[in-house]
Order: sequence, then structure tokens, then C-alpha cells
Amino acid sequence: MADKKWNEVIAYTMLDLPSLIPMIMAVSLCLSILLFHGLTGVPPVPSSSAEIADVVELLRNADLPKRAIIYELGSGWGSMAIALARAFPDAEIRGIEISPAPYLLSKLRVRRFENVTIRWGNFFDHDVSDADAVTCYLMIKPMPKVSSFLDHMLKDGTPVVSLTFWFRDRRVDASREGPGLRGGAALYYWPARKV
Ligand SMILES: C[S@@+](CC[C@H](N)C(=O)[O-])C[C@H]1O[C@@H](n2cnc3c(N)ncnc32)[C@H](O)[C@@H]1O
Repeated sequence: MADKKWNEVIAYTMLDLPSLIPMIMAVSLCLSILLFHGLTGVPPVPSSSAEIADVVELLRNADLPKRAIIYELGSGWGSMAIALARAFPDAEIRGIEISPAPYLLSKLRVRRFENVTIRWGNFFDHDVSDADAVTCYLMIKPMPKVSSFLDHMLKDGTPVVSLTFWFRDRRVDASREGPGLRGGAALYYWPARKV
């Protein structure tokens, strides 16, 4: 009797499988976002257009070479990388993202832009020593590790713009303070003098 019931449940589930697929995909997407948020301590929150405008303005004033290589550390859903590609059409924007869902979506979003590439993985494992500029929007916790990473990687004088979470032990060269809850952006010339 119990076996018959189970067979019915299985048969019903098999019949209904196509309608379960979107739900399974949505649950997997949420679980993957939560998992990678837990691993990195950084949620995939995209920067707003006002925040992006501040980052672009700071970089414009930083006198980048025409064909600058700009790394976007933790490029999320690709919003900042796309805005940088538009603002600096001769530059090469290289995003690095560890969380699979934002990574895959950002790959789709940037496919029209010849000057953007998005790589999958942990940016701490990537060689960014050819950077002419770096941008990031992370969280308080990873910032000390990020500054040591940049100390090892970057050429002297490389502009680094960090959104909302600043390198608290380094001297800021220029900043844009967002009003209200909007995060401010800080520009450093690496290795910025310790304060
Ligand atoms: C707050 S979001 C910002 C996204 C994007 N930069 C923007 O401004 O729209 C930060 C992203 O960094 C990614 N991230 C955090 N630590 C990382 C690491 N070590 N390597 C690669 N990506 C990382 C997270 O998965 C998240 O998607």
C-alpha cells in the first residue's frame, strides 16, 4: 500500500518536472548567492548610478593612460565594469568575480562591450600587477587583506578607488562623500602612505 502511494508521488513529480525546473533553478541561485556571501563576507550588492558616477569622476581626475588596464575587484553583476567601459572606451576593463550567479549574469551583460572581460575566481589568486587603476566595492572585513594584496601587486602610483569601505590605514588623495545612506568613494595612489 505504502509502495503504491510512493509510486504515485514519484509518477506525479516526474509528470510535473518541467514546472519544477524554474523553482529548482531559483532555489539553487539563492543558495549559491548565500554560500558565496558566507565564504567572502561580501554580498553581491550592485553600486548605484550615483556611486558609479563618483568613481568615474575620481578616475577621470587620476590622469590614466589612454589604454589603461582597469581591474574591478569583485565585479558582481557587472554594473561598475559596464559603466567604466562606457566612461573609458579606450581602456581595458577586467572584472574578477567569485560568486557564480553574478559572474554568469555579468558575462551575459558585458558581451556587447569589446573592452570588458570578466574572469571567474578569487581576485586574491589573480595577477593584477599590470593594473593602471583598480576599483573595488567590498566590505570592512576584507579591506586589510586587500591592502596587503595591492602592496604586493601594484606599481607605485597606481590609482585605487574604493567605494563605501575605505582603506582606513591609508591616506586618501581625493574623495566624494555620498549624501545619506549612499557610500562615499575614496581615491588612493598606491602604496598610499600609512596614517
Ligand atoms: C558589493 S558587490 C560589488 C559589485 C560591483 N563591484 C559593483 O560595484 O556593482 C562585491 C562583489 O565582490 C565579490 N567578491 C568578494 N570577495 C571576492 C574575492 N575575493 N574574489 C572575487 N570576488 C569577490 C562578491 O561576490 C560580490 O559580488
